[in-house]
Amino acid sequence: MIYKKVDKVKEELSAIGIGCWNFGGDWDGYDEQKYINIVHACLDGGINLFDVAPVYGWYQSEITLGKALKGRRHKAIIASKCGLLWNEHRVTRNDLSKESILKEINESLTRLQTDVIDIYQLHWPDHNTPLEETADALNIIRKAGKIRYVGMSNYSQKQVEEMMAYTQVEAQQSLYNMLERNTDSYHGIPLEYACEDEVLPNVKKWGQVFLPYSPLFQGLLTGRFSKGNNFSKDDIRNANPKFAGEAIDKYLEAADEIKKVADEIGKPMSQLALNWLRQKPEVTSIISGASSVAQLENNIASCQWDIDEETMKRLDEITKPFKSFS
Ligand SMILES: NC(=O)c1ccc[n+]([C@@H]2O[C@H](COP(=O)([O-])OP(=O)(O)OC[C@H]3O[C@@H](n4cnc5c(N)ncnc54)[C@H](OP(=O)(O)O)[C@@H]3O)[C@@H](O)[C@H]2O)c1
Repeated sequence: MIYKKVDKVKEELSAIGIGCWNFGGDWDGYDEQKYINIVHACLDGGINLFDVAPVYGWYQSEITLGKALKGRRHKAIIASKCGLLWNEHRVTRNDLSKESILKEINESLTRLQTDVIDIYQLHWPDHNTPLEETADALNIIRKAGKIRYVGMSNYSQKQVEEMMAYTQVEAQQSLYNMLERNTDSYHGIPLEYACEDEVLPNVKKWGQVFLPYSPLFQGLLTGRFSKGNNFSKDDIRNANPKFAGEAIDKYLEAADEIKKVADEIGKPMSQLALNWLRQKPEVTSIISGASSVAQLENNIASCQWDIDEETMKRLDEITKPFKSFS
C-alpha cells in the first residue's frame, strides 16, 4: 500500500481507500458476510480509509461497517457524512441545521459502534441553512470529541472558503474520474464545482484531504459495461442518466480507447483508472467501491506499478473532451 499525507490531517491515508455505499445492499442485494470479508481484506491489505454515510443502504452500510470493524476500529479512519435525510418513501432532502446535525452524529456513532468519527463530511449543500449555523453544530461536536476533522462533499469552492471562516475544513470529496473530470452533474443532480479546474488547485493550496468519489465511474472504467442492460433491476446505477439511452455512447467510446491502452500495456483497465487518479498529487485516498474481495485485491494491486509519461499523455488525449464543464 502507498500512503499519502496532507498538511491539515495528522494521519497518513492509504492511497486506495474503500467506498462503503454498496455495503447496504443498494447495488447487488444485501450479503453481510461478503461485506465483512471485504472490510477485513481492506485492513489486511493496508487500507485505512473507509467512506460511508447514513443514507447508504438506508443506515445499513454504517451498521455493517461498524460490525466489521469490531476489535480493529483503531486501524480505520472512518469518513462518514451528515445532512442527507429521507422520508418514509425514501425521498431524500438536505438538512444541515444545527438541531439535525446534533441528532445525526449520535445516531451515526451508535450505528458505527464507535466514540468518534474521524472525518465528518457534509454530504450535499443545504441552501436553506446558513453555513454559519452548520459550522456552529460542527464546532460543538468537535469540541465534544465526537468528530476529529470536517469534510465538505459536493460544495462550490466559494462555499468551502466561506465555511473556512467559521470552522476548520480538513477534507473535500467530489465526483472525479478519467471521464468525469469537470462534469456538471451526478445522477441528474447539478454540481456546483468543476473538480479538476477548481477543487484540485484548492485542496493543494489549503492542504486538505481530497477523496475522489466514483473513481471507476460506477464500474464503467473497468471495461465491463456495454450498450444495454448492465445492472440487475434493483441496482441503484439504473438511476444514473449517464448510463441510459444515447447518453452512454460517448463514455463507452472513450472507455473502448482506454481499454486498448490497458491491453497494450498488459494491465487491467480498472488499475489504469485508479493509477491515473493516484498519480495526481492532489488526490489523497481513492474511495473506490468493490463488490467482492477479488475486486478489492485487484484495486490494491494497482499500487504496485505506475503509468509512464508517454501512456499518461495518450490517456490525457483520450479524456480531453471530458475536461470541459458539461
Ligand atoms: N459524496 C458523494 O456524494 C458520493 C457519491 C457517490 C459515491 N460516493 C462514495 O464513493 C464510493 C465509490 O463510488 P461508487 O460506489 O459510485 O463507484 P466506483 O468506485 O466508481 O465503482 C464501484 C464499482 O466498480 C466495480 N469494480 C470495482 N473494482 C473493480 C475491479 N477491480 N474489477 C472490476 N470491477 C470493479 C464494481 O462494480 P460491480 O458492482 O458491477 O461489480 C463496483 O461496485 C462510494 O462507495 C461512496 O463511498 C460518494
